Amino acid sequence: MAAQKKFLLKTLRAATANIRCNCHSNVSQETHFGFETVSKSSKAGRVHTVFENVAEKYDLMNDLMSGGIHRAWKNYLVSQINVLNGNRMLDVAGGTGDIAMRYINQLKYHNKTLSTGDIVVCDINQAMLDVGKIKASRLGLSQEIIWVCGNGEDLPFQDNSFDVYTIAFGLRNFTNTQKALDEAYRVLAPGGKFLCLEFSAVKNPFLKRLYDEYSFQVIPVMGEVIAKDWSSYQYLVESIRQFPDQVEFSALITTSGFKFVKYENLTFGVAAIHSGFKL
Ligand SMILES: C[S@@+](CC[C@H](N)C(=O)[O-])C[C@H]1O[C@@H](n2cnc3c(N)ncnc32)[C@H](O)[C@@H]1O
Repeated sequence: MAAQKKFLLKTLRAATANIRCNCHSNVSQETHFGFETVSKSSKAGRVHTVFENVAEKYDLMNDLMSGGIHRAWKNYLVSQINVLNGNRMLDVAGGTGDIAMRYINQLKYHNKTLSTGDIVVCDINQAMLDVGKIKASRLGLSQEIIWVCGNGEDLPFQDNSFDVYTIAFGLRNFTNTQKALDEAYRVLAPGGKFLCLEFSAVKNPFLKRLYDEYSFQVIPVMGEVIAKDWSSYQYLVESIRQFPDQVEFSALITTSGFKFVKYENLTFGVAAIHSGFKL
C-alpha cells in the first residue's frame, strides 16, 4: 500500500512537472508575426524579408500611408532629445536614417560640434542601411553618420557608450522586446535618455473604427499598387495591433531599469513617444 502511494505521488509529480515544462516552452518558443503565431526562431528571418522587400520604396510609402504625418512625429521625437551631457546618439532599427539625419540638423542648428562616431545608425537589414547611405550622401551628411548592421537585441556596442538611444517604428518588429530594452539600458551612459516612437493604441472607439478601416482596407492595397507587395503591408498593420499599448509598454521600459518613464500620445494614440532615463 505504501509503495503504491509512493508510486502514485511520483507519477503525479512527474505529470505536474511535465505540464509546467510544456507551458513554459509554449510561452517561450512562440511569438507573433502580425496575426500569425510563429516560432521565435523564424520571426527575425520573416521580418528581414519584409524590410528587404520594402527598402527601396520605404520612404515613399511612409509619406503616402501617413499623408506625411510621420515627418511631424519624427521631428517631434528629435525635439524631445534635449541632451545636456553629450551628443552621442544611437538610433536602433534606424533603417534609412530619418531620425539620425534630423538629429544632426538639430545639432547644427544649435551650433553644436560633432565628433566622428557620435551618430550611429544600427539596423539588422543592410538593404535599409544602403538606401539610407544614398540618402545621406544626397543630403551631404555622409561624413556624420556611422552605419552599423546589427541586432537591437544584442547590440555590438560597449556598455555606457551613448547619451541618447532612439528607436522609431522598430521595436514591434523585434522578437524579444524586453531584451532590446535591456540592451538600450546597457549601452546608454548614466544620465542617458531613451526615446521610442512607435505605433500605439487608439482608445476612442469611433476613431479606432475609422483607423482600423483605413489600416486594413487601404494600406495593403497601397502596398500592392505602389510597391507590388501586399503581404509586407498587411504585416505592417497587423504588427501594430500586436504591440503592447501605452501603459503595458511603459511597464516593460520600467522593468529594464529606466526611471521617470512616461509617454505622450501623437495623433490620438496612433503613435506614441515613450521616454525614460538611465540614472
Ligand atoms: C519600420 S522600419 C523603421 C525605420 C526607421 N527607424 C524609420 O522610422 O523610418 C523598422 C526597421 O527595424 C529594423 N529591425 C527589425 N528588427 C530589428 C532588430 N532585431 N535589430 C535591429 N533592427 C531591426 C528593420 O530592418 C527596419 O529597418
